[in-house]
Amino acid sequence: MKESSNLLFDLVLFGGTGDLSMRKLLPALYQLYRTTPFHASTRIIAVGRTAPSKEAFLHRVQDKLEQHLPQDSWDTVSWQQFAKHLNCVSIEADKTESYRNLIPLLSEDQRPRVFYFSTHSSLYATIASSLGALGLITPCARVVLEKPIGRDLNTARNISGQMSNYFTESQIYRIDHYLGKETVQNLLVLRFANPLFESLWNHHYIDHIQITISESIGVESRGEFYEETGALRDIVQNHLLQLLCILAMEPPPNIEPDRIRDEKLKVLYALKPLLGDDIARSVVRGQYSAGAIKGKDCIGYTEEEGVSEHSTIETFVAMKVMIDNMRWSGVPFYLRTGKRLPSRSCEIVVQFKEIPHWIFDTVRGQLMSNQLVITLQPDESITLRLCGKRLGPGMDVRTVDLNLNPNSRGNKRSADAYERLLLDVVKGDQTLFVRQDELEQAWHWIDPILLDWESTTSPPEYYACGSWGPAGSTLLLAKDGRLWHEGATG
Ligand code: BG6
Repeated sequence: MKESSNLLFDLVLFGGTGDLSMRKLLPALYQLYRTTPFHASTRIIAVGRTAPSKEAFLHRVQDKLEQHLPQDSWDTVSWQQFAKHLNCVSIEADKTESYRNLIPLLSEDQRPRVFYFSTHSSLYATIASSLGALGLITPCARVVLEKPIGRDLNTARNISGQMSNYFTESQIYRIDHYLGKETVQNLLVLRFANPLFESLWNHHYIDHIQITISESIGVESRGEFYEETGALRDIVQNHLLQLLCILAMEPPPNIEPDRIRDEKLKVLYALKPLLGDDIARSVVRGQYSAGAIKGKDCIGYTEEEGVSEHSTIETFVAMKVMIDNMRWSGVPFYLRTGKRLPSRSCEIVVQFKEIPHWIFDTVRGQLMSNQLVITLQPDESITLRLCGKRLGPGMDVRTVDLNLNPNSRGNKRSADAYERLLLDVVKGDQTLFVRQDELEQAWHWIDPILLDWESTTSPPEYYACGSWGPAGSTLLLAKDGRLWHEGATG
């Protein structure tokens, strides 16, 4: 590839020595470098309060890359080349003068200048105002805002108001890395390129939809962050609601970023508000206590570092959500997320209704209805469960799984979500980023639940590490005569 076609950008990573940067962002940039080589003068500048020496920083990054990359992605030659693009600098977020340290490291040409804010969102306005004061926000600047943006509607609006003093909406990239996962994009194609699915995608044929994001890890070194955040703000307000929007939205007229975002926004407007007693009826709030995962003992949440021993913060949420519109009237969406569950997985289950009249002798149950299971991780897959005849005499009906996985990918590695999204930022494509009105509407819907939980003195429901959450989660579906899908719960 010619040098001129290589990726040319400056990327300034605030929070660049922190957990997200080391675990996800720098590994993603390294992978991006391997697939799309960088121009020799491309720079990645990690900003930390007390940045280590460049040598110590590179050592640390190397360690983390070796730890977090799939084994076959690491190679010393690529690392040495990639490392030439890395630098680190020390800046104190509230001291504008310290931002001058950035100036000699930034280029003066018209290349995209990306500021990635991966700090606590309460610092976003402070950072933007210092960058603005020093004239570093040029017309080719873009800013990426990590979630959660704000801690409720009010704080999210304040951040937005302050950011708009320095950046236009087309310069702001609100990242939700779940939108960068390959299967999420495939979902758009599955829904809108196949009349087979689109014609059935409504309350006439769909009984309910389940979305599960489960993690086996606990809060790890992020106890303090989690104490202020909890699962509702960390996962439901963003990842789960975004997945729900993609599943439930109307077909956009085209795939321009704003046309897709318009449709997602309409879903958020149509979410039935959960207020008063509905909250206790439809939302389960859990917290992990000591237990074991795959034979390994795990401590309870309140024993984690940085966590209060009296904490009532939720590490698990399950909820029943209804969408008040023509397409989804009466179809529950069950959402669930939790830490210290038996395994890491993200799965969407579309459960179709039973056929109205059954003519076979085989007894039918929930399993006999069609089911579309979309797995985002650990492995990507799409499976359609159909009914078929058991081989041999008689008319025994059994379920048959039809695998819809793309088999044309060959050995091609599927890009990591952050890798894909970082490339989109450099290219200036906002399709997979969240617009301000979507962010606000999601908070608007979540706020009453937050308020209700903040005002209650009752503890969360406890669940042992390694279980699938508190009893209330099973009950939530059992009340409706349903079960969580066995793929995620098995
Ligand atoms: C992040 C949350 O947004 O997503 C973390 O802050 C969580 O708490 C992570 O662990 C999960 O992402 P993934 O891609 O590993 O499922």
